Amino acid sequence: MSRLPIIAGNWKMNNTIKETKELLTALIPLVKDAKCEVAVCVPYTSIAAAGDLLRGTNIKLGAENIHWADKGAFTGEISADMLKELNVEYVIVGHSERRQYFGETDETVNKRAKAALSKGIKPIICVGELLNERESGKTDEVVIRQTNGAFVGIDAAELKNIVIAYEPVWAIGTGKTATSEDADKTIAVIRNAVKELYGKGAADAMRIQYGGSMNAKNVAELMAMPNIDGGLIGGASLKAEDFKNVVLYR
Ligand code: PGA
Repeated sequence: MSRLPIIAGNWKMNNTIKETKELLTALIPLVKDAKCEVAVCVPYTSIAAAGDLLRGTNIKLGAENIHWADKGAFTGEISADMLKELNVEYVIVGHSERRQYFGETDETVNKRAKAALSKGIKPIICVGELLNERESGKTDEVVIRQTNGAFVGIDAAELKNIVIAYEPVWAIGTGKTATSEDADKTIAVIRNAVKELYGKGAADAMRIQYGGSMNAKNVAELMAMPNIDGGLIGGASLKAEDFKNVVLYR
């Protein structure tokens, strides 16, 4: 089964509109011959400017969160229609920083993913264990629970529009990467959870990224693993040259 790898930048709370324009203007020519799918998930305030610059390029436009309601009294939130109007193609859902600092649960991750899919936006669903969960041998249990929770009520026909990102929380922004073997092993556990839910064909077709201090130095080794289908890149997506070196890993 060959899956097209997807490497996506997660800018987090970085880059003003001016900085967005500078970064993307530098990045676009550098990655135009990428052999994988490329996306950048940018802060809400940068989406319009990024969309203008990315039109007609091979870089897909992404957002970093989405609310599940169509509209209404949810101060500070952004709906799927609002993102769709700006031609957003991908949206990160359930990033560990949202789970840790903003009360995100498996249930709200599921609601956000379903809202995105209902409007034709592809969720990048994040799962991953905390350090204490890894140390107490709970990694598999946690990622299976998060995967099962995220997919509640999602139709098999939607699976082709979903990407999963496995991000061990202790590896995010810390410079610590899971070994490629450990990352591959846990991604296989996630793939098996998808198999239990939807069958082998669906599991084989599901793209599952690794994320957590992925950079130019470790990308080739991680991408060589059979279960790893790309990366969700934080720190190394904030400079055009760094992100190019990840995207052009082969
Ligand atoms: P990092 O972040 O690459 O800076 O570790 C990855 C992420 O949080 O998506």
